[in-house]
Amino acid sequence: KIENNLRPQYLKDYIGQEKAKKTLEIYIKAAKERGDALDHVLFYGPPGLGKTTLAGIIANEMGVNIKITSGPAIEKPGEMAAILNNLQENDILFVDEIHRLNRQVEEVLYPAMEDYAIDIMIGKGASARSIRLDLPKFTLVGATTRAGMLTAPLRDRFGVIHHLELYTEEELTTIILRSAKVLEVEIEESGAVELAKRSRGTPRLANRLLKRVRDFAQVKYDGVITEEVANYALNLLDVDTYGLDHIDRMILLTMIEKFQGGPVGLETLAASIAEDAGTLEDVYEPYLLKNGFIQRTPRGRVVTELAYKHLGIEI
Ligand code: ADE
Repeated sequence: KIENNLRPQYLKDYIGQEKAKKTLEIYIKAAKERGDALDHVLFYGPPGLGKTTLAGIIANEMGVNIKITSGPAIEKPGEMAAILNNLQENDILFVDEIHRLNRQVEEVLYPAMEDYAIDIMIGKGASARSIRLDLPKFTLVGATTRAGMLTAPLRDRFGVIHHLELYTEEELTTIILRSAKVLEVEIEESGAVELAKRSRGTPRLANRLLKRVRDFAQVKYDGVITEEVANYALNLLDVDTYGLDHIDRMILLTMIEKFQGGPVGLETLAASIAEDAGTLEDVYEPYLLKNGFIQRTPRGRVVTELAYKHLGIEI
């Protein structure tokens, strides 16, 4: 079997998110010793940081099956009931974008998570009654980029909640070196560092860029990913030297051109880039804040000198 899956399968191979990793290791061990299902787990944070990967790792470490679905994929309460009813004891149900479950479907989850049961309505109107159907014990692993959009009753039913953080350049370098090994492509440390710098703190992006750079290394060079190849390829691919993507740059440019660099309120800024405020705050801001392109002040967001410099605009 060719091992070309870049997702780590076990905790020991997972790089970064040290806090989540350390605590999950304990909870998994404890649950296994008791022969119990792991408590329900919620991961939130920007996209591409390994929420699905961690769900898969939990299943592997627990030695159980995983069923993967997403909020928008489940349209009717009966579909959710069927999924839950088909699980085996201690299995994982992974629901990506869990904030997008509709209300009726979400309500099926409440008794399922709390009592491992679902209530099924029989009949209509005055003669309607509900019967309770017991479910196997299971673990719900939910993932969302938008923790603020979860309803309180749903959020409160998760026993374990982890915020996933953007990765450091060092962590990304280690991930890229590991991925290169899995892909059997030769890479120099400096090549990995260059890729890491331009991957927006995000392993998903790092791995995607690695594959593209590998193609350049193979066709235009001697197959080895050096700093030079990485630079050449990433420039051709229009990948920003700081890893900023198209929307990041648009945010900074809008702040500079329409709001004189700020301060500008989150809602105002969101409206002028036609994005919703929550997405701006949860998905785009973290990287810009972490890397010092913007700052939060009591009167709103301001762009920094670094942003002007990077975009080649005079203050
Ligand atoms: N590939 C993608 N994300 C990873 C991670 N966090 N650790 C190791 N390999 C990865």
